[in-house]
Amino acid sequence: MSLEAIFDKRIVFMTGKGGVGKTTLSMALAWAAQERGKNVILMEVDKSPNLRYILGKDIPVYKETRIAPRLAVFTLEPFKALEEYAALQIKVAAAAKLFLNNRFVSYFMQAAPGWRELVTVGKIWHTHQRTVGRGKNKRPEYDMIVVDAPATGHGLSFLRVPAIFADILKFGRMQSQTKDLLDMLRDPERTVVNVVSLPEEMPLNEAVTLADMAKSTMGMQVGVTFMNGVHPEPFLPDEKAACDNLLSDEAARNTLDQIWPCSGKALFDAAADRQARAQSCRQYLELAAKRLPTPIVELPYEYPGRVDMDGVKRLANLISQALCGGV
Ligand SMILES: Nc1ncnc2c1ncn2[C@@H]1O[C@H](COP(=O)(O)OP(=O)(O)OP(=O)(O)O)[C@@H](O)[C@H]1O
Ligand SMILES: [Mg+2]
Repeated sequence: MSLEAIFDKRIVFMTGKGGVGKTTLSMALAWAAQERGKNVILMEVDKSPNLRYILGKDIPVYKETRIAPRLAVFTLEPFKALEEYAALQIKVAAAAKLFLNNRFVSYFMQAAPGWRELVTVGKIWHTHQRTVGRGKNKRPEYDMIVVDAPATGHGLSFLRVPAIFADILKFGRMQSQTKDLLDMLRDPERTVVNVVSLPEEMPLNEAVTLADMAKSTMGMQVGVTFMNGVHPEPFLPDEKAACDNLLSDEAARNTLDQIWPCSGKALFDAAADRQARAQSCRQYLELAAKRLPTPIVELPYEYPGRVDMDGVKRLANLISQALCGGV
């Protein structure tokens, strides 16, 4: 699969260890896709405060909210998805609501395993099925659904549940619906899983496990690994040589201390720290290239470590360039 083909997928899952930047990069990828003319919806499986921070406003749960002409966001909520599913099956929303809100039914649902994951994937499937227009003008409502998956643990396991149900259910409407979900997840034309990682030990280990699990255990297509938060080299080679010279020249250091008491040393410490970070990132990137089965897209660390909408747009540009060689 070419990297550019990621923009042609209907459903793009973004997974990775907790806190590596899944929400930030889901938003950046969604932004990049809408800049390329796609109608996009970003679906977050878990409500994230970070998406609200990026957008600078609260987003209601389970309500499609348009944030740009070609971009909507949506926060999933399993019980609401179940209500919607039940209403589609029972055909009368009020009756479905009454049934699910029954004290005994809701008590049972608290304990029942798997349904949250199943209705979550079901909602994604249902959204990708929706169309607008009629006749010749009929087309999918959304060209692309970017799914901000929860942190690993139940990060990819929510995608495993349809396969488990498909094994259990041998006949009936639910069996065929579950099969539709599986077909969607395993169809490389429609669906891809991207992994998000940081150039650090644990996130990289997790990224390797996730990429392997998505491909081997779940039979899904794996796209790229976004290596997020890469610290750039702080100095050009000439600048680094000048800096090293200055550091090894005691007289020069003393002069600096005199004209800039205290801060001179702090400045060199900060420079050394940034250099060490950049070096460590380079080492993990080399390791990642050996261990990961996917192409790697490097994305920089954005100082001061909190990405707002402007930062998302910068990252979106870099994603576009990396996947397609420029917008
Ligand atoms: N490239 C980057 N440079 C600097 N900070 C970043 C970068 N990407 C993400 N962050 C910051 O890291 C923090 C975690 O990011 P984010 O919420 O996107 O991670 P997550 O993987 O979705 O987390 P969770 O698993 O909790 O949902 C946020 O404060 C975000 O602004
Ligand atoms: Mg998140």
